[in-house]
Amino acid sequence: MCHRRCSKRVRRLSALLAFLVGISVGFLLTARARLSVESSAAAGASEAVASLGCHTGSDTRLQAAIEGRFAAFLQAARPNASFLGAAVAGVDPVPVGPNEPVARLLQNGAGLIIVGVMTAQKYLDTRAVAVHRTWARYLPGHVVFFARADARAPPELPVVRLAGVDDTYPPQKKSFLMLKYMHDHFLDKFEWFMRADDDVYVRGHLLERFLRSVNGSRPQFIGQAGMGNKEEFGQLNLDYDENFCMGGPGIVFSRETLKRVVPHVKECLKNLYSTHEDVEVGRCVRQYAGIPCTWSYEMQNIFYHNGSDSSAFTGSLKQKEVHRAITLHPVKQPDHLYRMHNYMQALHIQDLKQRALVLHRDLSLAMEALNRVAGRPQRLRSFLVDDSPDQQHYRGNTTELGKAPCLNKFFPVRDSEVLKWDFVQRTWYSHANSNPRRRIDQPFRETLDDLVVQIMEMINRFSKQRGRVIDFKDILYGYHRVNPHHGADYVLDLLLVYKKYRGRKMTIPVRKHVYLQQAFTELEFREWPLSNADHGPGPFQGLRGSEGGATVGVDQGPLSRKTIHFVLPLAGRVATFRRFVDNFERVCLSRGEWVSLTVVLFPTPSTSVDDGDISAIVRDMQSRYSGYHLTVVPQEGSFSRALALEKGISGLGPNELLFFVDVDMQFDERLLRRVRLNTILGQQVYFPIVFSQFDPRVATPGDGLSPSAGHSFAISDELGYWRQFGFGIVSLYHGDLKKIGDLDTTIQGWGMEDVDLYDKAVLSNLTVFRACDPGLLHVFHPIECDQNLVLSQLDMCLGSRATSYASTRRLTRIIFNNSEILKFAHADKTMVINGSHEDHT
Ligand SMILES: *[C@@H]1O[C@H](CO)[C@@H](O)[C@H](O)[C@H]1NC(C)=O
Ligand SMILES: *[C@@H]1O[C@H](CO)[C@@H](O)[C@H](O)[C@H]1NC(C)=O
Ligand SMILES: *[C@@H]1O[C@H](CO)[C@@H](O)[C@H](O)[C@H]1NC(C)=O
Ligand SMILES: *[C@@H]1O[C@H](CO)[C@@H](O)[C@H](O)[C@H]1NC(C)=O
Repeated sequence: MCHRRCSKRVRRLSALLAFLVGISVGFLLTARARLSVESSAAAGASEAVASLGCHTGSDTRLQAAIEGRFAAFLQAARPNASFLGAAVAGVDPVPVGPNEPVARLLQNGAGLIIVGVMTAQKYLDTRAVAVHRTWARYLPGHVVFFARADARAPPELPVVRLAGVDDTYPPQKKSFLMLKYMHDHFLDKFEWFMRADDDVYVRGHLLERFLRSVNGSRPQFIGQAGMGNKEEFGQLNLDYDENFCMGGPGIVFSRETLKRVVPHVKECLKNLYSTHEDVEVGRCVRQYAGIPCTWSYEMQNIFYHNGSDSSAFTGSLKQKEVHRAITLHPVKQPDHLYRMHNYMQALHIQDLKQRALVLHRDLSLAMEALNRVAGRPQRLRSFLVDDSPDQQHYRGNTTELGKAPCLNKFFPVRDSEVLKWDFVQRTWYSHANSNPRRRIDQPFRETLDDLVVQIMEMINRFSKQRGRVIDFKDILYGYHRVNPHHGADYVLDLLLVYKKYRGRKMTIPVRKHVYLQQAFTELEFREWPLSNADHGPGPFQGLRGSEGGATVGVDQGPLSRKTIHFVLPLAGRVATFRRFVDNFERVCLSRGEWVSLTVVLFPTPSTSVDDGDISAIVRDMQSRYSGYHLTVVPQEGSFSRALALEKGISGLGPNELLFFVDVDMQFDERLLRRVRLNTILGQQVYFPIVFSQFDPRVATPGDGLSPSAGHSFAISDELGYWRQFGFGIVSLYHGDLKKIGDLDTTIQGWGMEDVDLYDKAVLSNLTVFRACDPGLLHVFHPIECDQNLVLSQLDMCLGSRATSYASTRRLTRIIFNNSEILKFAHADKTMVINGSHEDHT
């Protein structure tokens, strides 16, 4: 069991928890923050203050709602593709031409756009697969990969092998022949045609929105215009007013363009004036379609190329360049393409959530309006929405979710109901936390960063029309609170820089107040049907109690007949063991649960004052429950928990469910059920987070509990804490333990072996399921820190001991009520400052 973690980390975590708990009380999954951002005037340090009133929307909204945009929303979310486990097996050595997936496309492919990705043999297994499994699936059309004549490719990829083409660079022939192929085979089936590299990321739904706003009947040649850099000047054979579309971020052709250009591909290939493929494509288009690449400043944001090469998009993606782009280039590493996809999907989900909220608001308005007109609320209401959770199209409580964004959604009636604001500046001040002034932690920092990105997007939405751009500088200060029913509220004072580039140019710092609300949406959860296969195959071993009709209270489903093998390493501590065994008997044996118990017993430490015979206790229990397998395995040598666990499971088969436990633990029947549910053979291991009792003598003095007696399952901040950094209690299948790499038996004593196992589990492809388990309790016992431990271990031990005294609130009270301690602390601090600090341990 891992007792030793510095108290600092624990404290930080409880701060985070307070935040999370606050949220989970209400609804989960926040949507995009939005209340109102007042656009401020240019002059000076303006402080535009948004209205706090709760306005509802407009008539157009109402119209839209009645026109049934709700229905569109219902179909909006597409399931997220799973693309992990990148094993790509086999190749298909088909000769030149399309492979099987492309043949299918030729048969019945159609859509808005077809993207030809030029790739080389060395990237077919990596970049091409990544493209195919990520953005290619979210395109309003199809992606086809174009490779050399003898390319070997994973069969899942739609690949065209171009006759007479190899991987030489520059890939001019590949490019022109790809355009020809798309022209010859897909011209009538798609409206738009894109030439792309294999290291680009394309955001399908944004591309669709963009292309639908362009007249595709005209010749179009769309991309980021380039004219060559300084070194290339004069070598590209371009006139001063001639450009080309840069290949990297992708080039889009309309059907008309392709129609005009492709018949001349041969001439273009014969007359190359530079070594650049994209320059030559541009030249060809200019000559035969008569158009240049789109001359628009905007294009470098939309078809975004980052000049930092292989390090592009490897850092934070929370940047305006990333958010506003439709294509992003270059993403050199496939891993980063997956990461990018994940990020974009998250943004998209956020968008859909926000749209859902807006639709709820529309519906809410519609219902209100109809009420006013017709006065038949209930019938009209059910005409508009399925507003009971049992109905088929129930999409959340419209009355609740449809409330307009507003900081006054909730009116406190009593003092105690007033929601308190936190204050944020360099540090974070809050009333509710037992540490009222603390560092802004990482999760909250991320939240603020997210808000800033969103706010700046809102503020700059009309920048172009207004001939100005506003940049973010700093958050001067802010307020924040979580309303458990409605969401998180923020009031921020921002320092911005206002740059006007049209008319009278100027650059001035401005301040702006923003009021934001991050509305909660409905609680969502996913349910997996349980099947036997998920929980390890049978046969379930018959280690069940046969005495005294002992099936009381245990349901008879196959899951409850999965035997849990308790493994308990032990050295001395007979009294505690008695308590453990009582609990084990009460919860497991007397109720006929399917379990076994193996105690691995090391010699009693010489310092121990315990007496009694552990083997005798087990023998006695065995005699009363003869159907069970209860054993003591004696072990020589000095204590090693890892060794003990390994010894304890040595006789068990790979499909057996193991539960590593400690003698300080108390548990109830809920734990057994969770262990069986949360541990899945070949898929998932369960590391429950244990509730750890504080020292009852400090935490709850005067209620007569001795340290060892207080094992009720009461859970509260005052009684104990969730041991986030303990990993010793775990359930997993024996075969999975072997797979993730066994226990490190070289680790002596307590601690570290559990962290080692946890690390291995995280690195394995098994899912690590970790959650607070209220059915599992660590009963307080005084922590002895061996002064001979190495310093870092001693530190951790002392930290752990300090953490188990009592809640911070309780400790604070003790200190305030004992001025002696304050005096001592003050003296101690003075000593430290004077450099004459003595060791008080
Ligand atoms: C699109 O362009 C074609 C050809 O120039 C033209 O006939 C048509 O009216 C345009 N459509 C729109 C909606 O502008
Ligand atoms: C783009 O490149 C610049 C440097 O050229 C770099 O600082 C920035 O982080 C890059 N952006 C992304 C999103 O990778
Ligand atoms: C929806 O919310 C309203 C107000 O918050 C509440 O009165 C109502 O009972 C809720 N309806 C359902 C079906 O939960
Ligand atoms: C996990 O990895 C093992 C090989 O180490 C493999 O046999 C197994 O199929 C993988 N499981 C999953 C779910 O990917």
